[in-house]
Amino acid sequence: MKIQWYPGHMTKAVRNMQEDVKVIDLIIEMVDARAPLATRNPDVDRLGQNKGRIIVLNKSDMAEEKANKDWKDYFTALGYECMYMDSRRKADMRELMNCIERASAAKRERDRARGIINRPVRAMVAGIPNVGKSTLINTIAGRSAAKTGNKPGVTKGNQWIRLNRQIELLDTPGILWPKFEDEHVGEMIAYIGSVNDLIVNKSELSECLGNWLLENKADELIPNYNKNADIEISDYQSLMNAVVKSRGCLKPGGEPDYDKAENILINDFRSGKLGRITLERVPQ
Ligand code: G4P
Repeated sequence: MKIQWYPGHMTKAVRNMQEDVKVIDLIIEMVDARAPLATRNPDVDRLGQNKGRIIVLNKSDMAEEKANKDWKDYFTALGYECMYMDSRRKADMRELMNCIERASAAKRERDRARGIINRPVRAMVAGIPNVGKSTLINTIAGRSAAKTGNKPGVTKGNQWIRLNRQIELLDTPGILWPKFEDEHVGEMIAYIGSVNDLIVNKSELSECLGNWLLENKADELIPNYNKNADIEISDYQSLMNAVVKSRGCLKPGGEPDYDKAENILINDFRSGKLGRITLERVPQ
């Protein structure tokens, strides 16, 4: 399955981010914990030179627990501050504040050495579509966050959210585009729904995902669609037949509705109904 797409508004989004990044100290780079490398964009390294960085493995509630720990260790070993979270959970924000403190310690020290005291650390959230950037900003901002006015140098309309005396967050996330260079990367991004479904051939997507799940997660997958264990699920076609049967996907004349079955498989995966599944393993 090949995916190639670069929507026009992405050029503008990247330009905005290039402007915004000039006035911040720290980038909170969000990736999807189910595919942490596939959902990174290497431009963050270029844009974020000389800035602090935190890598947030988001949607970790949908990824395997062991894999979450492995990925956190992997990025920590590379020298990043890293944490995994569910960005909808207020309780996870305390650890994020701790990470921000640690990731900005060097910057605060430099400020102190130059006699600058109490200048807040300025952070922005960045990442590819659908990794949970807006959710994180909303969860952090909550009700208590006070929005401060516009400041020079920030894209018009952006505002700072003051999180505490030491940290200010830009209220607009930096949006980057996934890199589809490797075919399998494109597939993973499509499975989790980070590319517009309109550009993906849904039947191909369902077949690719189905085959991947059969190969890697058969034990979790099969019971979902074969409660009575009356269909032998051995390949993609038998999987589709099991979805049709277990979910009653029939057209008005009684014909199997495979279109509907494809949607069910994709949505069940994306909503976590098939269990916690990590697509990508830490490189050896
Ligand atoms: P973006 O700004 O990076 O594009 O992503 P956004 O916050 O819009 O989040 C995309 C979807 O992912 C939203 O679901 C959001 O609720 C969900 N989400 C964000 N963080 C997490 C997380 O840590 N765990 C889980 N399980 N889901 C998360 P949606 O269905 O598109 O919208 P909604 O119906 O929830 O509003």
